[in-house]
Amino acid sequence: MSEKVDDESLLGMEELEPSPIEDTPISTSLDGSKEYFPQSSSSTPPSHHQTTLGLGNHGPAWYLTRVQKYSSYTFTIFAAFHITNTSIIPLITQSVPASEPYILLTRPYYQSPLAEPIIVIIPLIAHVASGIALRLYRRKQNLDRNGAETLRDRRLIAWPKVSGISKLGYLLLPLALGHAYTTRILPPDQSSINLSYISHAFAKHAAVAYTGFSALVSVAVLHSVWGWAKWLGWTPEHVTHGGVDGQRSRKRRWYAINSISALIAGLWLAGGLGVVGRGGETGGWIGREYDELLRSIPIVGDWF
Ligand code: HEM
Repeated sequence: MSEKVDDESLLGMEELEPSPIEDTPISTSLDGSKEYFPQSSSSTPPSHHQTTLGLGNHGPAWYLTRVQKYSSYTFTIFAAFHITNTSIIPLITQSVPASEPYILLTRPYYQSPLAEPIIVIIPLIAHVASGIALRLYRRKQNLDRNGAETLRDRRLIAWPKVSGISKLGYLLLPLALGHAYTTRILPPDQSSINLSYISHAFAKHAAVAYTGFSALVSVAVLHSVWGWAKWLGWTPEHVTHGGVDGQRSRKRRWYAINSISALIAGLWLAGGLGVVGRGGETGGWIGREYDELLRSIPIVGDWF
């Protein structure tokens, strides 16, 4: 039962256990359309008090969900830059050397000492930490609501369910961090890291590169598209009506979200593997530098 409450409380479904007013209707809805109490006209004062900072007295779940939501906006901007540079431009030019200037052109927007923490590092920490904090908060709520006092009581109460989107998120973490490590953290000199470095890795060890990039792109796109569907209230779980109609609606949404994911991942892989992946080896001292870098990657480095 407690598991059910957790799942549904964020999505604004029908069944909720009694809870303090601050946590119930407002915290359940992000898109505003599924709130218990319809939005009143602007002339009506809000029913809850304001703090001295002008913030409403929402519960922690409300703030944590928003931190998780708004942090994902910056990744989406970064992802738009990244798919353009690593797939769309290579697909248009059909050449790795001709695509290099574009990636170098946009790099200052997300790699400068100021931009990188704002666009990537801080939002990523906020995104994951808010998810974990939300989980712990919901766990505590479940324990309190069920009056769990002893360790035995606590054991009997299930932890909040980890959604499919969250599972994809946790799978994405090592893949994205591994990618950031090999392209951003490991190289001592960022100026030689470009699309040719990726082409070189594909030429040196096709199996590792194809598997790694296909997994990274697929998981990242699935997590992001399902994540956006959740923020917009478009997932199958957001369908509240039952019966055959509701079932059909849920199925349609499931197919639509996965089809959009397949289209975006397919586009990314077409340019990333189809053009950059086939760009070939780099010779000379730069090629030797790439070899050295690839060999120094922990675990997979031995295969290069
Ligand atoms: C590109 C835009 C992104 C969107 C729209 C997005 C959306 C979401 C959503 C909606 C959740 C909550 C899932 C739920 O509670 O059911 C979530 C959780 C998560 N996301 Fe993302 N995400 C994005 C990018 C990323 C990236 C780049 C990473 C990691 C590299 C990531 C890692 C995670 C993790 C680990 C969780 C689980 C946290 C938890 O709830 O316990 N996300 N994301």
